[in-house]
Amino acid sequence: MNILEVRELKKYYGEGENQVKALDGVSLSVEKGEFLAVVGTSGSGKSTLLHMMGGLDTPTSGQVVVAGKDISSLSRDELTIFRRRKIGFVFQSYNLLPLMNVYDNIVLPIKLDGIRPDETYVDQIIAALGLEEKRLAMPNQLSGGQQQRVALARALAAKPAIILADEPTGNLDSKTSMDVLGLMKTSGERFGQTIVMITHNDEIAQMAGRIIRLEDGRICGQSGQSDRKQKSSQGSRRAGDFHA
Ligand SMILES: Nc1ncnc2c1ncn2[C@@H]1O[C@H](COP(=O)(O)OP(=O)(O)O)[C@@H](O)[C@H]1O
Ligand SMILES: [Mg+2]
Repeated sequence: MNILEVRELKKYYGEGENQVKALDGVSLSVEKGEFLAVVGTSGSGKSTLLHMMGGLDTPTSGQVVVAGKDISSLSRDELTIFRRRKIGFVFQSYNLLPLMNVYDNIVLPIKLDGIRPDETYVDQIIAALGLEEKRLAMPNQLSGGQQQRVALARALAAKPAIILADEPTGNLDSKTSMDVLGLMKTSGERFGQTIVMITHNDEIAQMAGRIIRLEDGRICGQSGQSDRKQKSSQGSRRAGDFHA
């Protein structure tokens, strides 16, 4: 099943000679449970694509369909609820609330939704991210890497169907990056979560099942295949093996 479909997505900024085509006709399907990496140079449209996928911004034209529903058909309130329940965002900036401790930040989206947190699962996430001793710490008492781990814990805690991550390890050292990614991947496999992750780090991209390369707002290459296609063709993927 395609949990996420992007159809002929375009996002243009400005007009005339100054017009920037941040996305210029991107189509792609993501199956439930897939781990997709999006790579490309700075300015190629990666963040714009991720924002559209999560309904944070509206396209100039084209569609984003999540679990069979065109998200442009949702009202503002429906979109807010959709994002809270279905999407876990991880940005490069952590967006933690400064006056709440680590634990309260992590469970905030769940509580906003009127749901009781799955404490066992939240504990597991906190432990896996090495945050046990920081449960009651305030964000300003944490290093950048620790804050990023809290942001990831917050995204995972609600068990969203889709995790959208924009350079989630951009500010972490390589060991912590691998730990955080490992956890994201394990969580995805365990809860059938779909992950779309932007990165410019090739080593990190290789952890994904499929890699898409953007250039000038278009998909210019792809490596790896979705699971179903992989099973039927039994194809194997080599590092850096891009097909335009
Ligand atoms: N709000 C905006 N107004 C005008 N141009 C924008 C805006 N957001 C992004 N862009 C432009 O769109 C292009 C793609 O940006 P972005 O998606 O952030 O790229 P990436 O994440 O791959 O670095 C860039 O040329 C950028 O300058
Ligand atoms: Mg970006």
